[in-house]
Amino acid sequence: MKIAVFAGDGIGPEVTREAVRVLEALDLPGLVLFDGDVGGVAYKRHGHPLPAETLEIARACDAILFGAVGDPDCDHLERHLRPEQAILGLRKELGLFANLRPAKVFAGLEDASALRPEVASQIDLLIVRELNGDVYFGEKGIRTLPDGRRQGWDMMSYAEDEVRRIAHVGFRAAMGRGKRLCSVDKANVLETSQVWRDVVIEVARDYPEVELTHMYVDNAAMQLVRNPGQFDVVVTGNLFGDILSDQASMCVGSIGLLASASLSGGKMGLYEPIHGSAPDIAGKGLANPMATILSAAMLLRHSLGLEAPAARIEAAVAKALADGVRGGDLGGSLGTHAIGDAVLERL
Ligand code: NAD
Ligand code: IPM
Ligand code: MN
Repeated sequence: MKIAVFAGDGIGPEVTREAVRVLEALDLPGLVLFDGDVGGVAYKRHGHPLPAETLEIARACDAILFGAVGDPDCDHLERHLRPEQAILGLRKELGLFANLRPAKVFAGLEDASALRPEVASQIDLLIVRELNGDVYFGEKGIRTLPDGRRQGWDMMSYAEDEVRRIAHVGFRAAMGRGKRLCSVDKANVLETSQVWRDVVIEVARDYPEVELTHMYVDNAAMQLVRNPGQFDVVVTGNLFGDILSDQASMCVGSIGLLASASLSGGKMGLYEPIHGSAPDIAGKGLANPMATILSAAMLLRHSLGLEAPAARIEAAVAKALADGVRGGDLGGSLGTHAIGDAVLERL
């Protein structure tokens, strides 16, 4: 069981360190960790955010635990050299097209949500975000128009097969949960979304037990705040899923709580918190590592088939939260390492 650990930039190393402590405390026989450079750190050391040797480590492993990438010092670089290309490159190179982002309110955290407690307590949803297509990976550029104006452009598209495979992931996830799937698109305006919706409807025939609904993304953003309890599984494209999952995190209580799995259909998966490198709090030991710790649990479950230790980690995090363990993101005062300690104690 080989796990690549790519900590990255900003708070990435801080939160990853705590998740690694949790993994090591489980003492799983045969588990070996391999470090690799990604992001701005990798650019500074190797001249590229996703160096060939890092990709090699990734390919040789069964799964990747990823911290975060992004460094304001690198924002002036050409796009292909920016830290974010590390995560985009790994998703593309490893065919990690299915991103699972569960959002559930933990017992005792209802008051931390940006929503009223009785609304927040209903949240138990899964966002299934497509990760290899959409406006993220279309042709793009900046050009100067004949009249001298600069124009940036990004091509948004989805091909049928790209939609079909993520739709199947969404329906299968719904079958394993509450059997309700909400497909979020913008089919009232975008042709990309029309193809998306047509294909999702076609795939639905294979899952007669799942109740399929469609929602425009603007309404979905509103409904997520008005009544998040209505959602079971949400399947959506790369950009909409990115935005809605950050929003869902604040409905739960903090972006420092939401974990994710990026899957290819095979054993290989990448596991990371949904948040970024948080330059505003980096290096201060203030970041909540729970999202990364919960990502390690998803890694054990989805890539290594280790359900029992995965559930143990999740129970330890839930217990810590129920006991009032809070970082600054949840109105408390505990730092990254102290939160890691609190989870380890319960583990
Ligand atoms: P961000 O998620 O890094 O931070 C947003 C806000 O949430 C900040 O105020 C931050 O302090 C807070 N926050 C984030 N994680 C937290 C945690 N664990 N505990 C407590 N507070 C936390 O988003 P951003 O500021 O828009 O982006 C910063 C950089 O991260 C950018 O370079 C961006 O491209 C990158 N990014 C990377 C990933 C990734 O690696 N997958 C994801 C998102 C953003
Ligand atoms: C995420 C991030 C990434 C995305 C960025 C850093 C490329 O926001 O993982 O949610 O947009 O997918
Ligand atoms: Mn994001």
